[in-house]
Amino acid sequence: MKINRYIKEAEAYSSPGWPDNIEDIIRLGMNEGDFISPHVVEYIQSLSIDLIARHYPPGEIPELINVIKEVHNIGDNAEVLLYPGSDNAIDNIIRTFSEPGDTIIMRFPEYGNTVLFAQTHGLNIVYIDVNPINNLTVEALIQAYHKHHPAIIYFSNPHNPSGQFLGPDEIEILAQKAQNSLIIVDEAYLHFADTTFIGAIPLVEKYSNIVITRTFSKLFGLAGLRIGFAVANTKISPHLRILQRTKDLTYISQMAALQSLKHIEEYRQVAHEIIESRQFVENSLKEIGFEVIGPSYGNFVLFKPTVEPKILYERLHDRGYITRFYTEPRMANYMRVSIWRKPVMEGFIRTLKEVL
Ligand SMILES: Cc1ncc(COP(=O)(O)O)c(C=O)c1O
Repeated sequence: MKINRYIKEAEAYSSPGWPDNIEDIIRLGMNEGDFISPHVVEYIQSLSIDLIARHYPPGEIPELINVIKEVHNIGDNAEVLLYPGSDNAIDNIIRTFSEPGDTIIMRFPEYGNTVLFAQTHGLNIVYIDVNPINNLTVEALIQAYHKHHPAIIYFSNPHNPSGQFLGPDEIEILAQKAQNSLIIVDEAYLHFADTTFIGAIPLVEKYSNIVITRTFSKLFGLAGLRIGFAVANTKISPHLRILQRTKDLTYISQMAALQSLKHIEEYRQVAHEIIESRQFVENSLKEIGFEVIGPSYGNFVLFKPTVEPKILYERLHDRGYITRFYTEPRMANYMRVSIWRKPVMEGFIRTLKEVL
């Protein structure tokens, strides 16, 4: 029996699992959203089982695509493609624009699932070491482009886990210089950096070598429904249609996303509240004496505690808070905490002080 050698060499994604008391635990480990509009909840509850379960889904729902285009001012030169989660989008984009043996450039550390998708597609991953961890520059990406001739350049922006954010002006320079690469800008956390929610999307209409990915898992609180999208120039979007599995786009996830965008101002308000809460957490962690990697532009903060991260993780876990520590040796001193709105984060900081 033959096993694909790239699969054999890879390590499977490990799902966090749900403890029995999941509803009593505050999960600040996966950067999930902390809010769903009551309008969206009511709408989801009103859907019939026939529509959401018994029938195969309808494929992409045009109204959702139209509303996404409207909200983000997307014109005729770009197309929106829906995916069951942005993970799925990233995997498809990588497979569409590279072949085994090609190179992908990313910084270290980068979002783990993207690393896995690149590995299992047989790509040669060239990491850019960034020091300090939140100091990736476009110059470093351009230098690596000239040296390694990558098929793909990928970065999360804001960056998970450091929270660094590169503005559209900088990304535009990269698009101009790295013309032979496909640049994937993963904007899973864009809403917490740019409350216009536009980000680098306008660049897609101008440059056919940029694809943006977005998710409804973070600000929109729909991680469990698995829905995200990509924005690609019409010159390249037909290629992405080949691997796009529209059968996996459920009706409930698309309709929930659509309803969320219809109430987008509620979410914009929440994004502002998260940004304020993030500032409170950064300040509090500094007051405690931890080294904060900042400023963060995501719905999370990375820091170096004065206690060993795994020990602190366990103490917090015993008190009902899940956070994130890292097993990768170069990240061993770091912890990450997701940011919810202020009352939850005040409770978190109080508990943190108690367990130190
Ligand atoms: C940088 C980044 N991109 C993408 C995702 C995945 O999003 P989705 O739930 O849409 O697959 C995550 C989730 O944590 C992430 O951190």
